[in-house]
Amino acid sequence: MKNLIELLPTVRAKIESPVLIALGAPWPVTQVVAALADLRVTCFQMDFFQAQRLREKLAQENLTAEVVVHGDLWDVEGTFKTILFPAAAQADRELKLDIVEQGYHLLDQGGRFITLSEYERDDVFLKLHKKVFGKCSEAPRSEFGSCFWSTREGDQPRRRHEMSFRAKINDGPSQQFDSWPGTFSYGEMDAGSRAMLEVADIRPGDKVLDLGCGNGSVGCLASVPAGSTGSVLFVDSNARALKLTELNAIANGVKNYKLLLSADLLDIPVGAFDVVLANPPYYANSEVGRMFIAASREVLRPGGRFYFVTKMPVRTIPDIVDLFGQVDSVENRGYTVVIATA
Ligand SMILES: C[S@@+](CC[C@H](N)C(=O)[O-])C[C@H]1O[C@@H](n2cnc3c(N)ncnc32)[C@H](O)[C@@H]1O
Repeated sequence: MKNLIELLPTVRAKIESPVLIALGAPWPVTQVVAALADLRVTCFQMDFFQAQRLREKLAQENLTAEVVVHGDLWDVEGTFKTILFPAAAQADRELKLDIVEQGYHLLDQGGRFITLSEYERDDVFLKLHKKVFGKCSEAPRSEFGSCFWSTREGDQPRRRHEMSFRAKINDGPSQQFDSWPGTFSYGEMDAGSRAMLEVADIRPGDKVLDLGCGNGSVGCLASVPAGSTGSVLFVDSNARALKLTELNAIANGVKNYKLLLSADLLDIPVGAFDVVLANPPYYANSEVGRMFIAASREVLRPGGRFYFVTKMPVRTIPDIVDLFGQVDSVENRGYTVVIATA
């Protein structure tokens, strides 16, 4: 998103206060906030980790914009005259549509939704804006990307974009999961999580931690062997993931569960779990992977079992050995499931 700030002058005259910036990486959003210093600006993020980094950047630059974290854009309090969507080229089409759709509902009548897209030949947004707003205007495209804007006129019912899938592990019962754009995994059970659950030893009464729960499918499926005396703590840094996980846990009859929004994983009870199931982000640099491993070591009771699924065992196994001592690993479905005991 390095060129985002270069797109702003094209639409600056159309931006009126109060402004909401929907998503966006910390540094480009900080630059936009700086360029709009005379306006009231709120920044929406779904991920608590990203939100913390954005707050830090804003503080470093002595900027005062409120940063709010919610599972859905339409949960932000108030309405806005302008919504700016700094869209990353690599974001999923479904998430782009979701943000345009939810943004519509936060606009005042006559308010503008403006997309800044770093992708120069972007035709996706023209279609998405028209789908939601009926009309879309576009600035002449430049080497820095494209700008699209639409005006809210009238009302529409809220539409949630979601996909459902069913999943079961070995001979267990089949469960149904909803998945939402912007949460992992969308539209199907993640193959890595399935590979991990197929080899995990989960016993009646186990206290299970689903670390990086995404849509919650791992913890929901693990709750079956853990039984009525077991429990699951679902942890994620993404507020939408936890909102979705709660719905999936209820729909699948998971009784003893808790949810925790955490970015640094320091607030998980220490020594409290029999099993940790961890499927860290694939994009994760080793920093996030290492954080998952270190937190797991802390929160497992002595003798507790750690399962960590990865496609990069050479990078991650040494970190697990450092903290846990001896480890085993199982190859399943093209993934490596690393198994260690606390
Ligand atoms: C590969 S996904 C796994 C999702 C889910 N377990 C599944 O199987 O579909 C990794 C998850 O880790 C979460 N995550 C990323 N960084 C995190 C952090 N710092 N703290 C907590 N969760 C994080 C992401 O939001 C994402 O939901």
